[in-house]
Amino acid sequence: MKKIYPFSLLLITALVCFQSCKNAPSQPKAGIEKTAYGILPDGRAVDIYTLRNENGMTLRITNYGGTIVSWTAPDRNGVYQDVVLGCDSLSGYLHGTPYFGAIIGRYGNRIAKGNFTLDNNTYNLATNNIGNHLHGGIKGFDKVLWDAQIVDTDTPSNPTLRLKYYSKDGEEGYPGGLQAEVTYTLLKDNALNIHYEAITDKPTVVNLTNHSYFNLADAGKTTILDQELVLNTPMYLPVDSTLIPTGELRPVKGTVFDFSKPTKIGARINDTSDIQIKYGLGYDHCWITARSNSGTPENIASLYDPASGRLMEVLTTEPAVQFYTGNFLDGTVIGKGGMPYKHRTGLCLETQHYPDSPNHPAFPSTVLRPGEKYESTTVYRFSVK
Ligand code: GLA
Repeated sequence: MKKIYPFSLLLITALVCFQSCKNAPSQPKAGIEKTAYGILPDGRAVDIYTLRNENGMTLRITNYGGTIVSWTAPDRNGVYQDVVLGCDSLSGYLHGTPYFGAIIGRYGNRIAKGNFTLDNNTYNLATNNIGNHLHGGIKGFDKVLWDAQIVDTDTPSNPTLRLKYYSKDGEEGYPGGLQAEVTYTLLKDNALNIHYEAITDKPTVVNLTNHSYFNLADAGKTTILDQELVLNTPMYLPVDSTLIPTGELRPVKGTVFDFSKPTKIGARINDTSDIQIKYGLGYDHCWITARSNSGTPENIASLYDPASGRLMEVLTTEPAVQFYTGNFLDGTVIGKGGMPYKHRTGLCLETQHYPDSPNHPAFPSTVLRPGEKYESTTVYRFSVK
C-alpha cells in the first residue's frame, strides 16, 4: 500500500473543504447597494437601492417616488419570494401605475373637491379623481425624484436608506415649502421600519404613507381573496359615492367591515347589501383605532396567507389605515415578468390620518405649522405561522 504522508493528508483535507465551501449555499450578506436604474425624460439619473438583511430578506427601492419595487419574504419552508406588485423597469413606473409601492404625499387619499380652508385662507388643490384631490394630486410625491442617502454603513445589519424631497410652496396647490424625509430601515427580524418626517415654512396639511400592494402568496399572480386579515380597529369611516368620508365614525361590529377576528378577505367583499361595498367596489375604506397617538408603533393589522404560511403584521403610530383591495386593477397594468395585474391581485394597508381631514374639524388634525415637526412611523413585520 502506498504511504500517505501527513502533508498529503493536509492537502486532501484542504481540497475537500474548499470544494464543499464552494457548493454550500452562500450566507446572505446584510447591507445596501446602489445601482443605476434609468434616466428621467428631463435627463436626471434614477437609482435603485438593494437593502438586504442577514436572513436574506431583500428590498429594492428606487428614489423615483421612493418606490418599493420588490420585497422578498420567507414562506414556512424558508423560501424567500417577492410579495409586492410592481414593474420590471423604470419605464413601467414612468408610464404610470396605480401608485405601486410609492411614497404618497403631500396628502394620502382624498380631499373633497380639492378645497380646504386653513387660517381663513382657502386653497384649491389639483383635482385628479372625479373632481376630488387624490394622493397629492397630478404630480404627487410618487412621481418625483427623491435625494437618496445611504445611512449607517457602519451597521450593515440594519441597512438604511434616507430619502429627501423639497416640495415648493404652491406645488399641487398646497401652501408652504415642505421638506419631507422618509427613512427606510430593514431590521434583523424581517421588519421594514418606515419613518416619515416633514417641516414647513407656512401652515399646511400633511398625511404621508406608502402605497405597497401586497400579495403574500405570489406577488400578484392570483387574487388576495383567500388571505386572512385582522384589523385592530373598532370603527371605520363610511364614504359617499366618490369615496369621501361622510364624517360619521361607524362601529364595525355586525357589519362586513368587521375584521376583529381573522377573516378571509373574500368572505364578504361582494356583499353589496351594504351600500358601502357598492361605493368602494369592495373594500376601499379607512379603519380607525380606538387609541390616541402614543408615539410608539402599535399593531393595527395582520395579514396571513394560509397557503405559504407568510404573516405580515402592520404596526404604526398613525390613527388609521386605508384598506384597499385592488378593486381598480383590471389586467391593463402589466407588471413584473409581463404579468397583467388582474382584479384584486394585490391589497394595500396604507397607514395614515383620515382622508379629507382638512374639511372635518372633528377628525384628528393633519395641520403642520412652522416650528412643528411631522413625524410618523410604520413597521411591516414578516414571520411565518
Ligand atoms: C387608494 C384609494 C383607492 C385608489 C387607490 C389607487 O387606496 O383609496 O380608491 O385610488 O389608492 O388606485
